[in-house]
Formats: sequence, C-alpha cells, structure tokens
Amino acid sequence: LGLGRNISGMLKDKLPSHLYEFLKIAGAVADEFKFGAYLVGGCVRDILRGEENLDIDIVIEGDAIAFAKKLGEEIGAKVTTHERFGTAQVIKKDFKLDIATARTEYYESPAALPKVEMSSIKKDLYRRDFTINTLAVKLNKKDFGLLIDFFGGQRDLKDKVIRVLHNLSFIEDPTRAFRAIRFSERFGFKLTRHTENLIRSAIRMNIFEKLSGTRLYDELMLTFDETNPVKALKRLGDYELLKVIHPKISFSPELESLLQSVHDTITWFELLFLNEKYDKGMLYIMALLYKLNKEEREVALNRLSVTSRLKNKILNGLNAAKNILRGLKPDNPIEIYHMLEGHDIEFILFSMALTNDSEKKKAISHFLVKLRGIRPELKGDDLKALGISPGPEYSRIFKKILDEKLINRLHTKDEEIEFVKKLTKNLL
Ligand code: CTP
Repeated sequence: LGLGRNISGMLKDKLPSHLYEFLKIAGAVADEFKFGAYLVGGCVRDILRGEENLDIDIVIEGDAIAFAKKLGEEIGAKVTTHERFGTAQVIKKDFKLDIATARTEYYESPAALPKVEMSSIKKDLYRRDFTINTLAVKLNKKDFGLLIDFFGGQRDLKDKVIRVLHNLSFIEDPTRAFRAIRFSERFGFKLTRHTENLIRSAIRMNIFEKLSGTRLYDELMLTFDETNPVKALKRLGDYELLKVIHPKISFSPELESLLQSVHDTITWFELLFLNEKYDKGMLYIMALLYKLNKEEREVALNRLSVTSRLKNKILNGLNAAKNILRGLKPDNPIEIYHMLEGHDIEFILFSMALTNDSEKKKAISHFLVKLRGIRPELKGDDLKALGISPGPEYSRIFKKILDEKLINRLHTKDEEIEFVKKLTKNLL
C-alpha cells in the first residue's frame, strides 16, 4: 500500500518548531472535515535527504479551499484562494503553505485493464514528474508522520537516481526534461537509463517545439538559479536541449568559459551588493546568444516569448557591452566613469564577464565598487549661497566637481567650496 515508517521525528528535527506545529494543526483541521491531508513534494524529498526545505506543499483529499480558510482562522494567517485551480495559500509573516486539492485525472494507457480505483492521493502523486518527488507524509492526527511511498521514491533517493513514473512523462510535460537535469546536477543523482532514453526520444519526436516560450524561459531561469548553473547548462547542451532556444546554440568550450565568467561575475557582485536589484537571467541569456548574429538573436528571443522591452534590452545590451569594452580606457577614472555611467547594471556586468583583459575587468570593478557612488557634496543651495545664480551653469560646475573627486583631488565639502570659488573666478 506504500505505507512505510513514521518520520514525525525527522519533521520535528528538520522544520522550525512553529512550522511543525502548523502541520499538526493542519492535520487536526483536516480531521474535522474528514479530509485526508498530506505533506508532499520537495519538502518531503529534502527532509529525507537530510536537508532543510521550507516550501511546504499540502495536498488535501477534499476541498482545499474550505480547508485553507479554516486553517487560516486557526493559526491567524492570511489566506488567498484560486478557485479555478482548487488551490490556496496560507500566508503568515515569515512563511507560506501551498494547499491543493488532490488532482485525480491522469493518463492511463489505452490498452490498460480497468484498475482497482486508486486513492486520490495516489492518483495525485502518480501525475508527478519523478519518483523522488512522489513521497508524501500523512498529516491527519491518527497517522501523523506516516511516510507514504507508492512509487519507490525512498529506494531511488537511496540509489541517487532520477526516474520517471511512466513512459509518457516528457510528452505530457516537456519541461520535465529540464527539471530532470536540474535535479540531477543539484543532488548529484543520475538519470536512469530508461529516463534518459525517454528524453532522447522526446527530442527525436520534436516534442520541445510544442513547449511554450514562457515555460521554456521559466525553466531556464530556474536553471540559472542553481548553485552550479554552468554544469547544468552543459548537461542541457549534451542533450541538445539548448537547441530548443535556437538551433545554432551549442555548448562549445567558448560558451562554457563565457557562462562561467558570467557566473563568477554574478557571484562576486552579489557578495558585494547583496540587496541590489538586477536581472541575473538576462546575463546568462546574453551569454547564450552572444555568438549568434542579430537575426538569430531575435529568433531566439522570440522563441523565448520575452516582452519586447526585454528583447530590446538584451539586443542593445549585447552591442553596448562590445562598445563599452572597445572604448574603455582602464587607467583613467574620469573616462571609466563616463564610459559606464548611465548604462544598465546588466550591461556593465556582462562587459565585465565578457572581457579577458584583466585591466579592463579591474576598471569595471573599480567603477562598481567605488566610482559610481561618488557624488559632489555640494547641492544647488550651496552654489546659490556662493552667489551663483541658478541655470545651466550648475550642471557644468557639478560635473567639474565630480571629475575632480573621481581623480581624488577633492575630499571635503570645504575643498569643493574652494574649488567652486576658484572656478567661478575664472568663469565670470
Ligand atoms: N511537478 C511535476 N511536473 C512539473 C513541475 C512540477 O510533476 N513540470 C511536481 C513535482 O513532483 C514537484 C511538485 O510538482 O514535486 C512541485 O513542483 P516544484 O515546486 O517546482 O518542485 P520542487 O520539487 O519543490 O522543486 P524545487 O526544489 O526546485 O522547488
């Protein structure tokens, strides 16, 4: 029946205590409705791997929305519902629970004999991608913590393999090929021979043509978010899955080193500027498209269904990066500043990743770390107080102050004032 050991002790160990308590309350609320309630998905998988995963997914055999509303009341959480999908989120300050009604429609092969009716949680789990993602934990009071393993998920976790549940898995959902590689790289698991063959045959059948641009783009973004995206992209390249973006993209050593350089640049940047918003995915996309010509880049971006705003930004960025590197004079801070200032941060980072010239890399890093933050301390009011009447002259003066500061010739506000005084004497 797929019933196994009780892992409530592991849940207690691996989850923050308030989350563990909410799961117990969830079980009690489900009991009131006489619904079955299960913790499912990545959280169960990762707890069994000994890792933390605070993405809590709960499947309800019954009305998930009614359940979520009641649970929200019990624990004083906000509830949002999506009636059309029978899903809800229970949200508190520092966490959220995703709740779904067990989905029972699934593909049965035309020749299959009528089977004994499966429980709805089993059908829900059967619709999922890989065996390691089909483990569930019962939350109802009587069986709280009972591990449910219908499809050999524990065995495959132990054997470190990614295995589909049935032969049509990639045809039902081609994004699973990308997911298989992602999980495989993330956990160091191997695809089973059969799973690998199914991906190859899906590729031969051109299944990926039918994958929408948006879903393809989202899968790529998830890949870029992995700890080691370059290896995952290499694997995608090995399976020729990068050709889904554009037939001309292949994983050459050149592309590998550019992607690695993008990754290193991003790691450096995020370490220094933890809270700065930027579009990481755009940098990887730029690297993937770098070797294509303009028309091919456009075809690829159309394939990814990105907005025309992002499409133009990427196309411009690829050109801007080249121009930046061509024009950059690494030993002159004033020129570095005016070369880079005003460009989108993604273009600047891509230039930094693109160049092999260590002086230019250093110049860009100097701009990001130091130069871009330099501002005159004087404000318009200060200039007024110095008797200069407001007008276009102001911006010329500020630029002069800025340039002096860039080359370290002005340090304090008083020095700026002295400088302006001298300047205006000459100007007037
Ligand atoms: N799923 C699936 N097919 C997909 C996407 C998801 O079958 N194309 C299933 C998986 O079984 C997964 C669950 O839906 O366990 C939730 O999906 P998601 O949150 O993307 O997966 P996680 O396993 O939580 O992965 P991650 O650790 O990357 O968040």
